[in-house]
Amino acid sequence: MRTKDFKNFIRPFEIGELISCDTFARVVESECDALPVGAAVMGRQGWQDYAVVTPGDVKVVADDYTAEEWMTALSSPGQTPYLAFTQKARPMPGETLVVSSAAGAVGSYAVQLGKLGGMRVVGIAGGPEKTAYVRDRIGADAAVDYKSGNFEEELAAACPDGVHLYFDLVGGRVSDVVSEILAMRSHILLVGRIAANNSTTPEHDMANMRHVWSRETTMHAFSRYAYAELYPQAVERLGALLRAGRLTMHNVVLDGMEATPEFLNQKLAGRHLGKVLVRYADENGKRI
Ligand SMILES: NC(=O)c1ccc[n+]([C@@H]2O[C@H](COP(=O)([O-])OP(=O)(O)OC[C@H]3O[C@@H](n4cnc5c(N)ncnc54)[C@H](OP(=O)(O)O)[C@@H]3O)[C@@H](O)[C@H]2O)c1
Repeated sequence: MRTKDFKNFIRPFEIGELISCDTFARVVESECDALPVGAAVMGRQGWQDYAVVTPGDVKVVADDYTAEEWMTALSSPGQTPYLAFTQKARPMPGETLVVSSAAGAVGSYAVQLGKLGGMRVVGIAGGPEKTAYVRDRIGADAAVDYKSGNFEEELAAACPDGVHLYFDLVGGRVSDVVSEILAMRSHILLVGRIAANNSTTPEHDMANMRHVWSRETTMHAFSRYAYAELYPQAVERLGALLRAGRLTMHNVVLDGMEATPEFLNQKLAGRHLGKVLVRYADENGKRI
């Protein structure tokens, strides 16, 4: 999203600028009591080996969760659907939830939280390995491959009562197909626009707004950043689900700073399941 000069809620990166991203790190030197050496800290320190920070730049986090748990279930991937479902459109038991990019980082948690909310969940993902993961590992009732020749028919067959809630991470053609089978007074959560961000010529979507109008559908644009005051609540609730063994996810952990741009391209091209994490140092702080 930030490599394109599209109109967006956040400015594009400038050439030579540090690439920001969520980070989990350890304090290795300190001149400050609030950040003792060895403390685990999370922030947005980006693609770099070391960062100089003040207490306001990072959050000290407890060691009772692993780095992977902090970076996935307890961060953006878990928090985004948790906050979207609690603040914008609640899962309704028995109704049908459709999640796009369902095998991805955020989508995997949207599927699981939708199931925990009692919904019938249908995940959309690219290819048989990803649809098997969505159905068999994270518990969707059905999974549909948007790259198959019969996407439209297969999605309609998986949603016999129509789509009551659409958790949309991609837009583009996938969303046009979903719009055809919206239920009356349904809801769309606009959470991501991968199809537009992932292309030099953004795919247009919701080409036929007549479907939204005729089903009296409500569309909710959602940004997690608008709910920062609720992050501690999200961590508490998602942590309790993790501890109870009710959330699972596949993470891909890759090593090395130099390869990070290539890892990002792989993720956007759909090579990996779940969340892609990159490690720059081992447990002892030695550069990988
Ligand atoms: N609103 C918020 O607060 C918020 C917070 C976090 C993230 N987001 C947004 O949520 C989206 C998902 O983020 P993520 O980290 O979970 O990414 P992700 O889903 O883990 O990774 C991207 C996936 O998108 C799929 N994809 C790529 N091009 C596609 C296309 N043209 N049509 C359909 N699917 C396509 C690929 O999966 P397949 O192999 O299945 O195609 C790929 O694996 C992003 O747009 C991100 O910006 C929003």
